[in-house]
Amino acid sequence: QLIAPALEQAAQAVASVSAAPREATILFGSQTGNSQRLAGKLAEKLKAQGFDVTLSAMNAYKTNGLKKTAHLFIVASTHGEGDPPDNALTFHEFLYSKRAPKLDGLKFSVLALGDTSYEFFCKTGIDFDERLAELGAERLTARVDCDLDFEGPAGEWMASVIGALDAATGAGAAAATAGAPSASAATAPAESEYSRSNPFKAEVLTTINLNGRGSDRETRHLELSLEGSGLSYEPGDCVGIYPENDPALVDSIIAAMNWSPSEVVVPGKDGDEGTLRSALLRQFEITVLTKPLLEKAAAFTDNGQLAELLAPEKKAELKAYTNGRDLLDLLQDFGPWKLTAAGLVSILRKMPPRLYSIASSNKANEDEVHLTIRKVEYEAHGRARGGVCSVQVSERLAEGDSLPIFIQHNPNFKLPANPETPIIMVGPGTGVAPFRAFLEEREELGSEGKTWLFYGDRHFVTDFLYQTDWQRMLKDGVLTKLDVAFSRDTKEKVYVQHRMLQQAAELYAWLQEGAHVYVCGDEKHMAHDVHNALLTIIEQQGGLDAEAAKAYLAELQAQQRYQRDVY
Ligand code: 2AM
Repeated sequence: QLIAPALEQAAQAVASVSAAPREATILFGSQTGNSQRLAGKLAEKLKAQGFDVTLSAMNAYKTNGLKKTAHLFIVASTHGEGDPPDNALTFHEFLYSKRAPKLDGLKFSVLALGDTSYEFFCKTGIDFDERLAELGAERLTARVDCDLDFEGPAGEWMASVIGALDAATGAGAAAATAGAPSASAATAPAESEYSRSNPFKAEVLTTINLNGRGSDRETRHLELSLEGSGLSYEPGDCVGIYPENDPALVDSIIAAMNWSPSEVVVPGKDGDEGTLRSALLRQFEITVLTKPLLEKAAAFTDNGQLAELLAPEKKAELKAYTNGRDLLDLLQDFGPWKLTAAGLVSILRKMPPRLYSIASSNKANEDEVHLTIRKVEYEAHGRARGGVCSVQVSERLAEGDSLPIFIQHNPNFKLPANPETPIIMVGPGTGVAPFRAFLEEREELGSEGKTWLFYGDRHFVTDFLYQTDWQRMLKDGVLTKLDVAFSRDTKEKVYVQHRMLQQAAELYAWLQEGAHVYVCGDEKHMAHDVHNALLTIIEQQGGLDAEAAKAYLAELQAQQRYQRDVY
């Protein structure tokens, strides 16, 4: 009589050891929405297998949950110079703080998104992976680090995670409660057939230079047709464009190597024959030198200088060399090459899309999307160089031409749900683009919420992008307040953050009324300075010390009342 319950207990104990709970937490740190989308995809897959899934942005996650969950999956991108995305900041800080819990018994895996052209490739994902292990958690599957072309490796990571979970939670997990599609999958909006991997060829309806004669800038306002695409978007979303490389650069590369432009080097597709010239124009990146590319190229030359540059102790020299140089420099500098045209193409990165914040409201512009693209030009190492996409758009794109595009939804830059909530928008230069979308949207909705735009650029006369739009919106009341800072019209530079500081009392009053704050544009200088200006305003007007002001702003961020789209 005593034996039976003991056996039962033992059997239960064995079962609980061999079968971990069918439960998982998925956290993402995402700036432009890629990590968030991938995390969502994993969540759907696990739910379909009967898992109880918690999916959350890192900074919205209650960290005491870490002690309760059995499986933790992290999808994190790296931003700027190795920084965590905005919505990963507090969680990252928490894990590295003294408050971080012991995580023995937790199984985890990390998917890291990054770009091999940056020194701190995938740093945020690596941080999480290492820190979780330090805290005692155990890797369920190895971390996967993705370069710009992340879809393939991300898919493999998901498959490995699901396989490992199946093993950990008992065989046949897939069959257990599978089949029931989750509610969110069932109610998701109909998706267009066009996507990042299958871009839509959008016709250019309008292209105009927004800068006046005599400006040292050129900024294109592009209007693209979405007709027949089934694509739609919300204010704050982005468009990804697959650009074409500069034909002059492509021809110089082919000439430097004495190759034939018409040699077929890749499989043809979409009416493209896959010749060397067309592949270099459209399919591969030729303007950025990454370390992995140099390492692969080194196998095709006896020139010892390249191998030397790649030595571990030459990190600084490598960075100095790759900065501002392209494939033509590489081929010219380290010959003679034992390289065929097909061989070269096989070591190049796929052409990554360029993302631009949308400057129009879909509600106000059916079947159209508007973009604001500033031409990037500079001189480096004795040659004129420029941004691939912005130069193409400025110099080689006419009305009637088309561009391969997709919509990249950005859940981290969204108008408040309530159209009456006041909004403060800070967007100098092309950073103003999404605010044109925000205001058009509010106009279309007939919203009466207060709106305040801080805009800045070099010169009032030539660089006041969309000036007539703002004036009309002011008159109509859609735009409540407009403050401008033209930095090169006066002896002393004035920037948007100076205007914010001048209006500190009112700005703080708006915050206290529940306003949302949006910042778009240059990250390194502008967004950083604007962040500090906000801290100063909160400190002074709220009578807080530096710590408390920081907490106030972090709280705004956690409530998604302070959102940034910075690059
Ligand atoms: P500048 O080029 O005269 O320095 C859009 O590019 C505008 O942003 C320009 O007026 C530019 O000024 C300004 N800008 C440059 N650095 C900035 C910073 N750190 N903060 C805010 N605005 C800045």
